[in-house]
Amino acid sequence: MSRTSTLYVCSACGGQSVKWQGSCPVCGEWNVLEPVRASRAPQRRSAAAEPLPLQAAAGDLRRLSSGLDELDRVLGGGVVPGSVTLLGGDPGIGKSTLLLQMAAQVAAGAPVLYASGEESAAQVALRAQRLGLSAPSLEILAETELGTVLERAGERAAALLIVDSIQTVQSERLDAAPGAVSQLKECAAELVRFAKRRATAVFLIGHVTKEGSIAGPRVLEHLVDTVLYFESETSSRYRIVRATKNRFGAVNELGFFAMTETGLREVRNPSAIFLARAPEPAAGSIVTVTREGGRPLLIELQALVDRMRFGAPRRIAQGLDANRLAMLLAVMNRHAGVSLQEHDVFVNAVGGVRIDETAWDLPVLIALASSLGERIVPGALVAFGEIGLTGEVRPVAYGEERLQEARKQGFQTALVPRDNAPRKPIDGLRVVPVARVDEAIEAAFSSSPRPVQAARAPARS
Ligand code: TYD
Ligand code: MG
Repeated sequence: MSRTSTLYVCSACGGQSVKWQGSCPVCGEWNVLEPVRASRAPQRRSAAAEPLPLQAAAGDLRRLSSGLDELDRVLGGGVVPGSVTLLGGDPGIGKSTLLLQMAAQVAAGAPVLYASGEESAAQVALRAQRLGLSAPSLEILAETELGTVLERAGERAAALLIVDSIQTVQSERLDAAPGAVSQLKECAAELVRFAKRRATAVFLIGHVTKEGSIAGPRVLEHLVDTVLYFESETSSRYRIVRATKNRFGAVNELGFFAMTETGLREVRNPSAIFLARAPEPAAGSIVTVTREGGRPLLIELQALVDRMRFGAPRRIAQGLDANRLAMLLAVMNRHAGVSLQEHDVFVNAVGGVRIDETAWDLPVLIALASSLGERIVPGALVAFGEIGLTGEVRPVAYGEERLQEARKQGFQTALVPRDNAPRKPIDGLRVVPVARVDEAIEAAFSSSPRPVQAARAPARS
């Protein structure tokens, strides 16, 4: 006998409630609870479940290559057979393109099924043609019924199954519409079981809602092994694939791509893609070397300091933590004698990137002093370093690697925490170690003797 009961699931966060309410008890959103009929079939005991020695349990875990090193990297070294990966992103960002390229590559050595509920088989084929992909063992299936998709994948013993998109498939066993929470959950769970049973790698494409979660429920994220997000800055042709969950590799790995007329191309040396500086260096601008997704990335930071007109001074930070900015302003005041209490302060990480580390402390401090005093930081200078409350410049991780990258990108001077100074000199790069904030500000401008205009009082006399 199977019992059914009704459960209410939030379409925004996936939270559950046993009774209907106006708002979700977990995330507080209004009008998001959807009824889901949960059937509890009597548990059948599986005869096959026997414990295995740990060594044997790993089986043959040879990863497949997606043909794109950047994607393999984010996946932790390639596609794991039997794993389920969710790829989320805005419509039109290139999810179908990326997975079609991967499918064609994998199909060179194993059967692959691309199930498309979004586009017709002809549309997918046309795109493949435009991308110059030819793979005889890649099959396209325009189908939205999950049972059929799994049957076809099973018949072909597919090594890779792509479902484009999870929001368009439906299971006959449920009468809810495709995309409804109950369908998403049921279909994803069914796909996970299929992947594990058949050792088929499954990729699910998921559209992202306005709020940024894979539409709508986060429930999918718990079910799958790996969650990838495809991101892009508006109007940029660069695309970033970020792993936010990965049972088979590190999270926060990044893969960089550029969208071209012939599909997605890997960006093998992404460190400078966000660095589009004005030809003439300007006051308030400086370049830093941050570390995102396990590798160094050069980013321009800008600061604007403007005399406050009225009210309380404004502190606005784009891509950086505003609380940390407030702390830096206090340290500047106390330990470098630079007061910005009467000024509005704006800082910005150019390119729309978000920097989540403390290495931007030092460059931002210098950019602020640069804007205030209208003094230019030399264009060939980079800076990184953390700043402490007592005005000391503290080392950051991977100092040497950051310096090497700066040199590779043609920078000639690096202002770094004293403890990050390399033991051996780096060819072509002058390293200026600093220990305190006042010293750092002095050093940043000492090699730029020309102020832009007859400036206001310099940052520090
Ligand atoms: P697509 O993969 O369909 O996006 P998604 O599946 O995430 O919705 O990509 C669509 C966009 O990519 C579309 O605006 C056109 C662009 N594009 C190119 O610029 N070059 C190409 O070779 C392809 C196939 C698409
Ligand atoms: Mg698509």
